[in-house]
Amino acid sequence: MSTVAVTPDVDATYRRHLGAGRARLAAALGGQVEIAAHGAVVIDARQDVYLDCGGYGAFLLGHSHPRVVAAVQEQAARRALATRLFLDPVHAGAARALVGVAPPGLDRVYFATSGADAMEAALKLARLHGKHRLIGVHGGFHGKTLGALSASGNPTFRDPFVPLLPGVVHVPFGDAGALERALGQAGEAACVVIEPIQAEGGVRLPATGYLAAAADACRAHGALLVLDEIATGVGRVGAWWACEQEAVVPDLLLAGKALGGGVVPVGAVLATADAFAPLDRDPFIHSATFAAAPLVMAGVRAALEALVEEEVPSRAAQLGVRLLAGLRAELAHLLEAGLVRAVRGRGLLLGVEFAAPAMAGEFEYELVARRVIPNHCLNHHSVVRFTPPACLGDDELRWLLDAVADAGAAVLARNARRSR
Ligand SMILES: Cc1ncc(COP(=O)(O)O)c(C=O)c1O
Repeated sequence: MSTVAVTPDVDATYRRHLGAGRARLAAALGGQVEIAAHGAVVIDARQDVYLDCGGYGAFLLGHSHPRVVAAVQEQAARRALATRLFLDPVHAGAARALVGVAPPGLDRVYFATSGADAMEAALKLARLHGKHRLIGVHGGFHGKTLGALSASGNPTFRDPFVPLLPGVVHVPFGDAGALERALGQAGEAACVVIEPIQAEGGVRLPATGYLAAAADACRAHGALLVLDEIATGVGRVGAWWACEQEAVVPDLLLAGKALGGGVVPVGAVLATADAFAPLDRDPFIHSATFAAAPLVMAGVRAALEALVEEEVPSRAAQLGVRLLAGLRAELAHLLEAGLVRAVRGRGLLLGVEFAAPAMAGEFEYELVARRVIPNHCLNHHSVVRFTPPACLGDDELRWLLDAVADAGAAVLARNARRSR
């Protein structure tokens, strides 16, 4: 069967069995069916090649990294899943590798099946420490399980599912005073959940000092601090962790996405010994059949080795500086015209904020037409997010910036016509 012939069948199967909404969305973008990927590119069934600056941040190492693929293949053949009764050296190896790059003091690990599962584990650990009051921030995104949604700060995803966890309040992101006041009311029973930089919330960077002030306030009130670095961690923002950039060490630190090396699905909770104590006492208080599967752990360990050896955090920092400057230059006309409000980011987490969600949608469509895959921001529809891999070469960087310039020009022209 030719690769092209697969397409109608896939589309029909989606419509019939996997959700018409998903199929409609894909059709609006051109109906591409992805069939292969390596490095920074994804190839579709028509053999068109796309530069992947999306993937919701999972591909910091690019696609199909040979070291990660080899480790997973080898482990799949040897012992893919564990009995969960005996000890597992692959699990231990991944834990050592993760603790090796963790902020000081965070030397306990729970490997989860996803980012949202890591969030669930963190919320349950908080409960086991008597932290029944949850303080989240507006625009925060932590996954779509009921617990994670309770911490998230977007009514669109929360409202259809109320009542969620009780005792939850949300304060403005970046406002340490508001957090301090909320802590004053909740006191020692509080668990605070923050992303150091909001990713789905629109690549929002708080002012320098916010995270440190939030951590101080938590300490002063005896609250537990959970930093969600699922989108920002393991090198994405040009350091191993965004919290390192503010010298903050939380009680619990969440990782995911890039931790899987673009090959395996995974989440993780890094914890201090105190915060982890309930899991020391009872390892079954939060567990899952497939959590820490050897197949996944082999991928995590190989991914961390590659991230270290290829010096990905510092590459992400250097590439990010060039990319941010390039995006600002290519979108200068739109910035002047007020169609783009801001171009911002850190490392390889970058965002372009448009004046309206419709313009962001048009820009995304124009980028895909130029074979560049961006991310949509679930909690901020006016922002288009770029999360390219650290292996992006000079030609690919030019590809991205040319596409951004052309897509921006198309959005500018369309909106100029509309306003005439
Ligand atoms: C900051 C943050 N936390 C948690 C999650 C949830 O992770 P997952 O989709 O793996 O459940 C996401 C996903 O986008 C995220 O960006």
